[in-house]
Amino acid sequence: MSLGRAVLLRVQGLATHFLTGEGVAPAVDGVSFDLDDGQVLGLVGESGCGKSVTALSILRLVPSPGRIVGGKILFRERNLLDLPEEEMRRLRGGSIGMVFQEPAACLNPVLTIGSQVAEVLEVHRRLPGREARREAVECLQRVGIPDPEMRYGEYAHRLSGGMKQRAMIAIALAGKPSLLLADEPTTALDVTIQAQILDLLRRLREETGMAILLITHNLGVVAELADSVAVLYAGKVVERAPVATLFARPAHPYTVGLFRSLPDLQDPGKRFEPIPGSVPPPTRFPMGCRFRDRCPIAAEVCAEEPRLREIEPGHLVACHKV
Ligand SMILES: Nc1ncnc2c1ncn2[C@@H]1O[C@H](COP(=O)(O)OP(=O)(O)OP(=O)(O)O)[C@@H](O)[C@H]1O
Ligand code: SF4
Ligand SMILES: [Mg+2]
Repeated sequence: MSLGRAVLLRVQGLATHFLTGEGVAPAVDGVSFDLDDGQVLGLVGESGCGKSVTALSILRLVPSPGRIVGGKILFRERNLLDLPEEEMRRLRGGSIGMVFQEPAACLNPVLTIGSQVAEVLEVHRRLPGREARREAVECLQRVGIPDPEMRYGEYAHRLSGGMKQRAMIAIALAGKPSLLLADEPTTALDVTIQAQILDLLRRLREETGMAILLITHNLGVVAELADSVAVLYAGKVVERAPVATLFARPAHPYTVGLFRSLPDLQDPGKRFEPIPGSVPPPTRFPMGCRFRDRCPIAAEVCAEEPRLREIEPGHLVACHKV
C-alpha cells in the first residue's frame, strides 16, 4: 500500500461464525486488512476460505445462522458494526457499491435495467425523476452498454452475461461509491468477456478514484487489477503483500501452492500441481496452523497457531517455517 493515502477501509480482527447443528463454524476468524483510498485489494483463496462471508460482513448482510462475533470494520474511521441499520442501508448501494458473481440473481427481473439505475440515483443521490433518467443513460454508456437509450428499457433476461454484469456495475456506480466490493465479478463469464469486464473495472477505477475489494480465486485476475493482495485460508489471512512482492516472492506454503496449481500460459506443456486435499469445513478446522493437513513442510511446531509477522516491509506471513 502506497504512502500518503488515507485508509478507506480497515478490517480489524473480524470474526464471523455460523452456529450450525454440527457446532460453531468459524468461517471468518480474525481477519485484518487495510484498503487505502483508490487502491485495489485482491482477496484470494480457494472455495470455502471465507471470501464472500468477509464481504457480506462488511455490508452487515451475513445470512443466518451467521453472526459477526468480533472485530471492527472501520469505513472512513467509523465502525460499521456500531452504525444503526438505517445508516447501513444508506451506505449499501451508496458509498459502498457491490457487484457479485451472479448478476442475474441481483438484477430485478420485473424492472428495466435503466429504471434500476435511475432508482439508485433517486434514492442515494436524490436526483429528480427526469435527471435520474438522463444520468442513468449516461451510467449505462460509461459501462459500455451499446445504444444505452434503447437498452434503458430492456429487462435483464434479454441481456447476455457480460451485459448483465455491466448493468450491475452501472447500478453500483450510480451511487458514486468510494468503495466497490466485487465478489468474483468475472468468474461466471467466458474468457474474452472476463477480460472486457476487468478492463472496464480498471478504467472506472481510474476515472472515479474508487477503491475496490476484489474477491477472486483467480490469481490472474489479481495480477491484472490489484495493487495489493490478502491470501485467505480457512477463515484467516495467511499472507498479505503488495501485488508485485507477492508474485515475485510468495512465502506462505499455501500461496506457493496456489501459484503451483496455476496452468502456465507461457509453457502450456508444464505440469501444474493442484494442492492436495481441500479446505476443510469450518467446523473441522485443525488446531494450530489450519493448513497443517495439506502443507508439504508441516512440522511439530505447526500445532501452535502461527501469527502474522512482517518478513519484509509490507509483506506479512503467518507461518512458523518462513
Ligand atoms: N449460510 C451459511 N450457513 C452455514 N455456513 C455457511 C453459510 N455461508 C457460508 N458458510 C460457511 O462459511 C465458509 C466460507 O464461505 P464463503 O462463502 O465465504 O467462501 P468463499 O471463499 O467465498 O468460497 P467461494 O470461492 O466458493 O465463493 C463456508 O465453507 C461455509 O462453511
Ligand atoms: S505453519 Fe507449518 S503447517 Fe502452517 S503453513 Fe507454515 S509450515 Fe505449513
Ligand atoms: Mg464466495
